[in-house]
Amino acid sequence: PHPPILFSFASPDDLSAALADFILKAQREAIEKRGKFLVALSGGSLPKTLTALIGKQGVKWDKWQVYYADERIVPLDHPDSNHKLALDTLYSKVPIPSDNIHTIDLALENDLEELADAYEKELITQFAQKDSARFPVFDLVLLGTGPDGHTASLFPGHALLSEEDRWVAYIEDSPKPPPRRVTFTYPVLNHAVRVAFVATGEGKKDILPAILDTPEQGLPAARVRPVHPGQLYWFVDEPAAAQLAYP
Ligand code: 6PG
Repeated sequence: PHPPILFSFASPDDLSAALADFILKAQREAIEKRGKFLVALSGGSLPKTLTALIGKQGVKWDKWQVYYADERIVPLDHPDSNHKLALDTLYSKVPIPSDNIHTIDLALENDLEELADAYEKELITQFAQKDSARFPVFDLVLLGTGPDGHTASLFPGHALLSEEDRWVAYIEDSPKPPPRRVTFTYPVLNHAVRVAFVATGEGKKDILPAILDTPEQGLPAARVRPVHPGQLYWFVDEPAAAQLAYP
């Protein structure tokens, strides 16, 4: 894979503005190629960094198809839900059709295996027009990372780090609450056209060198390396990048 491309910004607002332009470019290319824009979002601080898209010229919301790189197993209107966060922060402020937002099916919450399978099927219907499609190819996956180097709901030392077949998996032992979650696996993250990590604030300054300067440590975020021709990007602000030697 190509080395990650790092963009560093003086402030979160500068980052957000640049990220919006980057997303717009990805959207244009995707729509030109296949008439839609396939995006995966994360939770945490990520949705807030997307607010520069609100009211921005050229965003074709009706062409977006949005999934979650990970989701917490809580009702969709619960404060812990990644969907609820994206709804409050972004969707409620832009003209995105609700049919274009792909949420987990909480009716299956008592059987996480089934719930993960159902979300995987939701991907299959979107991506597998060609029956040869081995993995979904997202146009853009947006990720965050925690102070332990996790990403999506892929945590250090967890068995899911070596999952090679499933597209969507579940965990019941997330060290970051809530414990029950579903997550995309590396085969999905690493087949995307573009993956962009967003990391802001001082709280990220100790983990970024472990991920970007010494990727051989194998932290979960460092294992995101999209296969050719996919490209990995990092959008960081100066406080987050303070200890970073990379590039
Ligand atoms: C989740 C997130 C998770 C998040 C990181 C970073 O559902 O918990 O998807 O992977 O992106 O923990 O979170 P912050 O951006 O809040 O630091």
